[in-house]
Amino acid sequence: MIPKGFIHDLLNRVDIVDVVGRYVPLKKAGANHVACCPFHNEKSPSFTVSQSKQFYHCFGCGAHGTAIGFVMEHGGLGFVEAVEELAGTVGMTVPREVAAPGNPQQNQIAPGMHEIMQLAERYYRNQLKQSPAAIQYLRQRGLNGEIALRFGIGYAPPGWQNLQAIFENYQEDGLLESGLIIQNEEGRRYDRFRDRIMFPIVNIRGQVIGFGGRILGTGEPKYLNSPETPLFEKGREVYGLYQALKSIREKRQVVVVEGYMDVLALAQHGIENVIATLGTATTSWHIQKLLKLTDQVIFCFDGDPAGQRAAWRAMENALPRLTDGKHIGFLFLPAQHDPDSFVREQGAAAFELLVRQALPLSAYILRELSAQCDLHTQEGRTDLLQRAKPLLTGISAPVTALLLRKEVAALAGITQAELEALYEIKSLNTVSRRALQKVKRPAISSLRALLRCLLFQPDLVRELPEDWNYSGPEAATIIELTEWLRTQEGATGSAAVIQHFQGTAHESLLAAEQAESMQWGESFDVRAEFRDILARLRDERRRQQLHALHAKMHGAGIKGLDEQERLLYLQLLQRHDVQ
Ligand code: CTP
Ligand code: MN
Repeated sequence: MIPKGFIHDLLNRVDIVDVVGRYVPLKKAGANHVACCPFHNEKSPSFTVSQSKQFYHCFGCGAHGTAIGFVMEHGGLGFVEAVEELAGTVGMTVPREVAAPGNPQQNQIAPGMHEIMQLAERYYRNQLKQSPAAIQYLRQRGLNGEIALRFGIGYAPPGWQNLQAIFENYQEDGLLESGLIIQNEEGRRYDRFRDRIMFPIVNIRGQVIGFGGRILGTGEPKYLNSPETPLFEKGREVYGLYQALKSIREKRQVVVVEGYMDVLALAQHGIENVIATLGTATTSWHIQKLLKLTDQVIFCFDGDPAGQRAAWRAMENALPRLTDGKHIGFLFLPAQHDPDSFVREQGAAAFELLVRQALPLSAYILRELSAQCDLHTQEGRTDLLQRAKPLLTGISAPVTALLLRKEVAALAGITQAELEALYEIKSLNTVSRRALQKVKRPAISSLRALLRCLLFQPDLVRELPEDWNYSGPEAATIIELTEWLRTQEGATGSAAVIQHFQGTAHESLLAAEQAESMQWGESFDVRAEFRDILARLRDERRRQQLHALHAKMHGAGIKGLDEQERLLYLQLLQRHDVQ
């Protein structure tokens, strides 16, 4: 473990312009430095390095990061190696924190958490042996003892405080934190999982970090899962990866399915390179993680409309993660089947055939686009070009992107050059940066603008009200960012922010806004902008609240409101011109 503080110090000590300049010939251009991007092929520079913000961003392929990220990407190094390499260049020695015993690499996690999960897993496994009903259920679903053992399948018996049998102190805080028990408002504690088949969720090192619990037979909810805990971050974990690793490496391919039972049924039939997302859509983070492991990712979806929608989302999330040479495939099962029912009915060979026949990502895009648009009419072809634009401009892999542009152009009956001109793809590569700045961008939302300011100058977080509270993806990112910034001591630079959020669900939004903020000159009054946006947001909110109160008054005047609402109403009126 490298202490966090050291990473900060290191990022403060090195200069990204020197670091990048060692590998890439940089040219000064306004406040920034530019070069032809080392991460994709281009003839004119869209790779931009900000000295004041200490990060880089390529406007062509979207590559971005800090000095550490650059050394990792460019040199193909791991995080620790990159830190060591950089530290060496400025004469710093990398200190190491001693890992807690029995708990390597997980210092921030409360001691004992892994033990709690492990004890629970063993307990549930033992309970399974003693429950004929649960064993019968698994048998009837076609699973044998070997598979149950391999995946650590267990059973949580009925009853409210069974875990007292293994945890001496049921009142311990760690138990609550582990998500295994729940405390009600009166302070009474009880087991979260009762009378359920237990699926341990295991991280890549084989440690149990959470559970999914299935009801025996029918009932609601069908599955109950561990809540998010310090060990278990749902969007970042997948089910079955630890067990699948060996097979993924051997086959150089991973199959992604939706359910626990799908993973188990396929494993039961000897198909082991399979993982499941945990009841969530496939995120770009999943894709990134899987593409790091192997060259081929096959998504397997049910044949129904929900499966089609999930496939489209997965495709969209895959685009920015694509590199040439990696292969992403889409497999659609016959309607009414999921992988579990399919493999049990048709057998392993039939499933493997479907895997081999999976549609490559580009073919999938073309198939969907041509199905969505009527290519016989001019309107339909226009529609095609519009729908294809975000996809074609979002692909990070240059060769794949080029081939797709050719195909879409052909479908639309125009030339590739015309299509590129239409999408302004050339302008990124051949037109000067000044021209780039003139490209009209749509008005950005207030929340994005706020985020952009925070990234440009993280200490503005102190001006954000403590109770700042909005919903939506942008707000979620702002909240995560501010929460993190508030835990940081001293000033935090933009580079530290990127470094911290690299690889998280917030990364792409942050990177996009960071890239935008590169256009701001040194003299830009970001504080004024920030205050402006906050005022605008407050105004919007007041207007909405007034609107809601007016609706409630509904002719009855202020009598239509309760006391609290009246107070709010009067306050709002004082501060605001009713519109
Ligand atoms: N899921 C969940 N909570 C639910 C329903 C589903 O977390 N209430 C997640 C589980 O990870 C589940 C996956 O979504 O494995 C897919 O759901 P579904 O297709 O309904 O379940 P199956 O895995 O097919 O399970 P089964 O065959 O036992 O119905
Ligand atoms: Mn199923």
